[in-house]
Amino acid sequence: MKVISTEYSQILASRLAGANGWDLADVRFSRFPDGELYLKAGEVGKEVLVVGSVTDSDALVQLILLIDACQGADITLVLPYLGYARQDKQFSAGEPLSARAVAGVLSRGVSRAFVVNVHDPAVLRFFDVPAYTLSLAPDIGAFLKGTGCDDPLILAPDDGAARFASAVAGVNGWDVDHLEKTRLSSEEVSISPKNLCAEDRDVVIVDDIISTGGTLATAARLLYGQGARSVSAACVHGVFAGGAYAHLISSGVRQVYCSDTIERGCSVYSAAGIISDGITQC
Ligand code: R5P
Repeated sequence: MKVISTEYSQILASRLAGANGWDLADVRFSRFPDGELYLKAGEVGKEVLVVGSVTDSDALVQLILLIDACQGADITLVLPYLGYARQDKQFSAGEPLSARAVAGVLSRGVSRAFVVNVHDPAVLRFFDVPAYTLSLAPDIGAFLKGTGCDDPLILAPDDGAARFASAVAGVNGWDVDHLEKTRLSSEEVSISPKNLCAEDRDVVIVDDIISTGGTLATAARLLYGQGARSVSAACVHGVFAGGAYAHLISSGVRQVYCSDTIERGCSVYSAAGIISDGITQC
């Protein structure tokens, strides 16, 4: 098996290859003078793992091109972060179902696909090939334990993240709860207080994605207002749009952790283990 990646997932792909004794195939990226993306892949052999996070439109096009360059091999597609997955419904007339459009395009020429913590597993039905989601929650629980976190309250900012938070907390038997979130716009949310006891507690808010950081900053304000001793944040996908990381730290969030599904300075846990396990088990 060879592993090949887009520019956006080079470190995770190297970890995957290293952990499994697979070879990492070479690939070079550039652009045509008009701005169009170009790439040239090395030899990938008969079986190849194509790894690429869909963080933006360039990342998507680069991944489509890479899959095409690997045609002829048996391709397993790894999507550490599947962007466009949050537009998983036509919320109003005239909108695309972006998750369906992207999954359809990425299914072409591949045998199966693995997605790390897809926003909603229902999106997997849009792939035309067998598609699986893998959860980093247990790894995040283990990581938090390793930081010396002493009996924190693990909190999901909304009920959609409640199961994820339970899986993080469950590793260590920690308390877990969730808040009630209403999204007002793509950058603004309102969060209703719940009768949870955050007073004098170290709280870790966990979520699949930190995008603008609006959800977390609002939750952190609420928790400090309720007397929390500290508020930290741990997510799978650190999108950090529009200066979100700095916004969170300046809002009093003590630590912000994410994985290498999007490669960041605060990527402190890796998805390589769960991807390796998923590939060998499915
Ligand atoms: C939404 O349901 C997700 O789980 C995240 O809560 C959301 O994507 C975070 O977005 P933002 O950081 O922009 O508030």
